[in-house]
Amino acid sequence: MDKLVVHGGSVIKGSINISGSKNASLPILAAAILTGEDCIIRRVPDVSDTNYMIQILSALGAEVERSSGTVRISCADISDEAPYELVRRMRASICVMGPLLARKGRAVVSLPGGCVIGDRPVDLHLKGMEALGAKIEFEGGNIILTAPDGLRGAEINLRGESGPTVLGTDNVMMAATLAEGITVIESAAAEPEVLDLANFLNGMGAKITGAGTRRIVIEGVKELKGVEHTVIPDRIEAGTFMAAAALAGEGVRLNRVNREHLRAITEAIIKSGHKVEFNEEGTSCFVERGEVLQGVDLNTSPYPGYPTDMQAQMTALLVTTPGISVVKDSIFPQRFMHCAELKRMGADIKLDQGTAIVRGVEKLSAAPVMASDLRASAALVLAALRAKGTTEISRLYHIDRGYEHIDEKLLMLGADVERVRV
Ligand code: EPZ
Repeated sequence: MDKLVVHGGSVIKGSINISGSKNASLPILAAAILTGEDCIIRRVPDVSDTNYMIQILSALGAEVERSSGTVRISCADISDEAPYELVRRMRASICVMGPLLARKGRAVVSLPGGCVIGDRPVDLHLKGMEALGAKIEFEGGNIILTAPDGLRGAEINLRGESGPTVLGTDNVMMAATLAEGITVIESAAAEPEVLDLANFLNGMGAKITGAGTRRIVIEGVKELKGVEHTVIPDRIEAGTFMAAAALAGEGVRLNRVNREHLRAITEAIIKSGHKVEFNEEGTSCFVERGEVLQGVDLNTSPYPGYPTDMQAQMTALLVTTPGISVVKDSIFPQRFMHCAELKRMGADIKLDQGTAIVRGVEKLSAAPVMASDLRASAALVLAALRAKGTTEISRLYHIDRGYEHIDEKLLMLGADVERVRV
């Protein structure tokens, strides 16, 4: 189990490239199940979550080749049962459900287990599959979906108590591509990753309109074909490095970004007093630590709102920002595991039912801390860059789930970090 040792206090500067999006790659890899032809997917980040997805596809019988970010998948002959041992490791494996059901008329996927960021039900995914005509049974911890006569288009509202569901929208959209007739998804998730998946599916010959809005219309087709696709930049990795640059930077350039996807994050960083400038095309940004800083209030919400996946990292930035900041996570109200560890480093945070009240302190001090989930770990790395002394972050496998070579990128920017194999 690796740990990251961060010697705080060094200044970061220079430029790095942002990787392809993990959360776009996962459903796109799963979507390759929808065709027997070869799919070539570029800029798939080398992180353990995409590796799990590739292992699941291989276990289903797909032929997969991977070489420096490019994945070629052939699902000529696949089974309809996703293996529990692999599925249980990653919640996003649920997105093989829609493609398997559409292609095979049957899908067996285990129910995702508990999750450290809070309760993560799949009721909306199942509601969608049922509306498309699938029969659903539960047996031995598995969900068994069957549609022997194929799926039929339907009108489906995917709004849950906390708003739309991202992977639920992906799952229903993928299943509906091969359904008979027209499917309308109301209250769909509008995240850029959903749009990227729709673009991939349309490249395969699907007929999807409205992706990226709250209403998606899918006209079912008889079959899909192979496609080549390049995954969008990872807006959360970009946001994390923007926060790092604001915390400890003397001018950091991030290449391969998408300005449009980063609007809410950019706004929050600028509001707290830092400088963010994009090039004309919006594909590269320069972030500089500001001089007059102030606390900000944040509330996470579905895209285009402030993303829950950038809540922990922004909290880490606000911990040493003068004034009071109020950070609310409306999507995952229990996603505050990082706060206990940040407090061990000297942060002044009070938690109150899905809200963190942060009083900015002048400095943080190093402490041994433990990563608890992907974004919480990133928050600890950020805080450690600014802390006095050496911070050891254990359980680094959490961060390796979603950040491609984070230690190498930080080293390139001049941070004093080392990965230690324990
Ligand atoms: C996706 O998860 C992301 N994962 C998460 O990123 C992200 O935090 C989340 O969307 C919200 O933006 C991937 O894309 C692989 P949801 P997803 O269904 O789709 C409730 C990261 O750090 N809900 O949009 O599983 C749910 O409890 C990860 O990279 C239901 O009630 O999340 C939550 O409150 C972690 N019923 C809200 O909807 C359902 O059936 C949004 O969750 C499904 C969800």
